[in-house]
Amino acid sequence: MAFHGIFRTKDVDDVIKQNDEKPDEGEHYTRLSKRLTSWDLMGFGIGIVIGTGIFTLTGVGAKNYAGPAIMISFLIAGVVAVLAAICYAELAAAVPTAGSSYTYAYTTIGEVFAWIIAWDLILEFALGAAVVARGWSGYLQDSFGLPKAFFGEEDSVINLGAVFIVLVLGFVAAIGIREAKWLTNALVVIKVSVCLFVIAIGIFFVKAANLTPYVPKSKPLPESDSLGGLKQPLWQFVSGAQPTTFGVTGVFVAAAIVFFAYSGFEAVANLGEETKDPGKDMPRGLLGTLAICTFLYVLVCFVLTGMVKYTDLSEGAPISDAFRQVGLGWAGVLIGVAAIAGLTSVILVDIVAMGRIGFALCRDGLLPPSFGVIHEKYHTPVRITVVTTIGVAVLAAFVPLAALAEMVSIGTLFAFLVVSIAVVVLRRTKPQMKRPFRAPQVPILPITSAVLCVGLMTNLAVETWLRFIIWLVVGLVVYVFYGRSHSHLNKDSVES
Ligand code: ALA
Repeated sequence: MAFHGIFRTKDVDDVIKQNDEKPDEGEHYTRLSKRLTSWDLMGFGIGIVIGTGIFTLTGVGAKNYAGPAIMISFLIAGVVAVLAAICYAELAAAVPTAGSSYTYAYTTIGEVFAWIIAWDLILEFALGAAVVARGWSGYLQDSFGLPKAFFGEEDSVINLGAVFIVLVLGFVAAIGIREAKWLTNALVVIKVSVCLFVIAIGIFFVKAANLTPYVPKSKPLPESDSLGGLKQPLWQFVSGAQPTTFGVTGVFVAAAIVFFAYSGFEAVANLGEETKDPGKDMPRGLLGTLAICTFLYVLVCFVLTGMVKYTDLSEGAPISDAFRQVGLGWAGVLIGVAAIAGLTSVILVDIVAMGRIGFALCRDGLLPPSFGVIHEKYHTPVRITVVTTIGVAVLAAFVPLAALAEMVSIGTLFAFLVVSIAVVVLRRTKPQMKRPFRAPQVPILPITSAVLCVGLMTNLAVETWLRFIIWLVVGLVVYVFYGRSHSHLNKDSVES
């Protein structure tokens, strides 16, 4: 009976009904009013999607893996994200609740998968916050000439800048300060403007010579870097090929790493409950966000690698540094300051999201309820927020940005894989369910999405896979020894 109950599912109708119920005593929910349009969703989406991915990973990816072809990597990652977004849109419109992929999995493929997804989302948001904090620190270093050992990526000893911003924003999240709507909007405008500015001004400094060779020739990974093959992409390791970087392989590896740049859009799906017409607004909001981001990303990559030879790109603050290298120091400073402001809000959203997921797990009995207690005065899951913030600060202090970003990419791709599968499963198990938006070409589209997610995942390093598997195993152990027996669904089934 070891598997008893682990595939139990929540009823979709119950979940939807739960939205209309009065909150239990002690739970600080309010019923959310349906007021958001697809434009609001896009604004929110762009606000959390544009971040360290474009501001920093562009440099890391071009310099170490793809050269000028980094724009192709961003395009590949964008296509995979769009397919996943279509799957998200169907579920987000049909199950318009704040739990996102955790709830979808709970209602479709069973509790153990829901738990794994939530465990995976914690990883995504926690490490996402750490990545963006390191990106933030890199731009701070670059703008104010701070010591590289304590801010930024190259020669990093301990990243004090990243620790500082994580602790400050963890505190802000714990006491329940949310960004005011006007501030969120202003930051969205700032981030989009920075990208447009980079494209409009940078284009005049693009030199064909910098873009040649477009796909640098493949070369062996340096012995010191390959760590017995652990730095190799999984597929290369499994096939016994020699560890290489650049070449076509490098373009795909970079695509898997920069997938990070698209992560976060699924938070838009969390807003289903507050959306006026989820059937129309949700797909428009999700796809609009991704279309705008992909467009900006690809052009920024083109301009950046055209301005500066990929070998000379900075890994800490590549965009401002590129402007400085072409003699536009003032523009570099402007971009740096805007990036610092824009990245701050991404970190805050990640920390808040982490708390929300932890809270949902405690509410469902999969983690100890005492851990998810809502603070009386601040109305936030303060314990979860404090503990996870400390964890994020430690990671941000010592782990390089690219390694953290790879972990977020694998976690995000895994979540997208499950969501794609859930669309197919739910069409079979709940054919009558009301679907305000139906993904086209089911099952071909979700299956393609699932296959591409796995394909990109196999381009991530063996060490990333090992870390991810360890994280999942730890999660399963927690579930087997705690969540499985304490789950509220379990209680329900015992009582009835
Ligand atoms: N996609 C977000 C970023 O690039 C998390 O920072």
